Formats: sequence, structure tokens, C-alpha cells
Amino acid sequence: MLWRALLFLVVLVVVYGEVKTTEINFHGEPIVRISSKKFDRLSIIKMLSQCYEKMFPAANGHAPMHLGSGGWVVNDERSCIQDTEVSYYVKSIALNSKEYEASECRINLNQRYKAIVSPSLNIHEYIHMKDDSVLAHVESTLIEKFATMPKLSEFKWYQLSDLNYKLQCLIDYQDIGQVKLKEDIVEVELERVFDIPHSCGFNRYQKNDQSSIRFTDTQTVQIPINGTFYCRNGRSSTCNRSKADFLYPHYKLFED
Ligand SMILES: *[C@@H]1O[C@H](CO)[C@@H](O)[C@H](O)[C@H]1NC(C)=O
Ligand SMILES: *[C@@H]1O[C@H](CO)[C@@H](O)[C@H](O)[C@H]1NC(C)=O
Repeated sequence: MLWRALLFLVVLVVVYGEVKTTEINFHGEPIVRISSKKFDRLSIIKMLSQCYEKMFPAANGHAPMHLGSGGWVVNDERSCIQDTEVSYYVKSIALNSKEYEASECRINLNQRYKAIVSPSLNIHEYIHMKDDSVLAHVESTLIEKFATMPKLSEFKWYQLSDLNYKLQCLIDYQDIGQVKLKEDIVEVELERVFDIPHSCGFNRYQKNDQSSIRFTDTQTVQIPINGTFYCRNGRSSTCNRSKADFLYPHYKLFED
């Protein structure tokens, strides 16, 4: 099918500064397949519930997703979990940057001293903590595949071990400020194809109640390359006066 062929002709824009395009063809193959062969029951149920909530939003009067009475009715839970398969296809890959909040947003209410904000302890680990084993697997598979591809194999991932945690950002009287973490990332847009057997009972809102269901959505995975902390003084999308902390400040211990 033409759309499938087009889908897997992935265009990649890479290299700092100069822009180059390379075509990567995954030959229409999924990059990852998730099923109960490799993943535990809870991971599969979690994916099924994400899918259910997108297909049948509670806002449209559908029963909420929970096993048991009043919710999602599974025809046969065992076969539902065993026969569900989710395939991930790469749609696009792009080099991008992203910013995170790396400290509290602070206002200085002291006329005599500058306030100091520094990066919160181990903030980069919190930012990249993976509590989703499927997503963690997808990411590590992508990193493995990239190692064999032109351009992408040049990147070193997660170079975040020598971030400047000693950074001190100074905030003037009545000013606000925050430490931000800016990262260069590779953003991978994936198409997720859910193949859900009849035994899962997802068909109950559909005319044909006997068939299996295929549902497709997209998911984005952002893989960091490197990063830098920097001081962001003044208002930003994550820091404003009404939100700013003023209790327990650290001060620069001299008058300006
Ligand atoms: C990542 O490393 C590249 C090359 O050394 C550098 O130009 C870029 O500024 C770094 N990006 C960040 C967000 O630190
Ligand atoms: C300040 O930021 C908070 C949270 O980010 C937001 O809800 C609020 O609308 C913002 N207020 C102003 C005045 O921009």
C-alpha cells in the first residue's frame, strides 16, 4: 500500500548548525513489537487501557476503563492479554531542543541581597526517570538501531553526567528567576498499532461485535543527547510572580 511505503520513508534532519537530510527506510517493519511474550500482564493491561481511553473517551458517555462491574467487560482476560499485540513504527526523526524547569521559580523580596537559585539535586535523573517499562524498552531499542545508521550513529546519548550543578543564578530585588535545563534531543515520532483480539471486549460499542480491532495512534519519544543548565531571569512560561517562591531563600552574602 502506498501510504505504508510513504510512512516508512523517514526523513531525517541532522547535524548541528548545518542541515542535512538523509533517508532512512525501515522497510515497513515495526521497530518494536510488544506482547505478553516479553512483557508482564500489568504492562499489557496498561497499554490496553491507554488504547481504550482513546477509543472510547469517558466524556462521550462510555463506561470507564476498569476491570469488573460497571467498567470494561473482558470476554476472556487470559486470551485478551495473550493475543494483544502492539507494534511500533518509526514515522519521523528530528533533531530538536527542549527545556525543563531545573529549580524552583523564585522571587527576591530582600532589598539588600541578591537571591540565589541553583539546580535542584539530581534534577536530570528525575526528568528522565522511566516508570514505564514498555517505553523504556522502546527507547533502548531505538538507541540500538541508531547505532547502525548513518548520522544517528554519530550521536552519543545521555551525556548528562557532567552537568554544572554548581551554577548559581543571581536574582535582583523584586525580580524573579529560575534555573532551566536545556537539552539537545532527538525526537522520534512513532506510530503505535494496537491489534486487539475480540476476547478483550473492545467491540461492544461497534456494530460488528465479533471481530478483532486495530487502532492506531502516535507517540513521541525524546532521547537526550546533552544538556546545559542556564539562568532564566524574568518571566517565562514556567515562572511568574504569582507562582514564585519567596520562603527560605539563599542570599549572596554581600551588598551590591
Ligand atoms: C551539545 O553539544 C554540542 C556539541 O558539543 C554543543 O554545540 C551544544 O551546545 C550542546 N547542547 C547543549 C544543550 O548543551
Ligand atoms: C503563572 O503561572 C501559573 C502556573 O504556571 C499559571 O497558572 C498562571 O496563570 C500564571 N499567571 C500569570 C499572571 O501569568
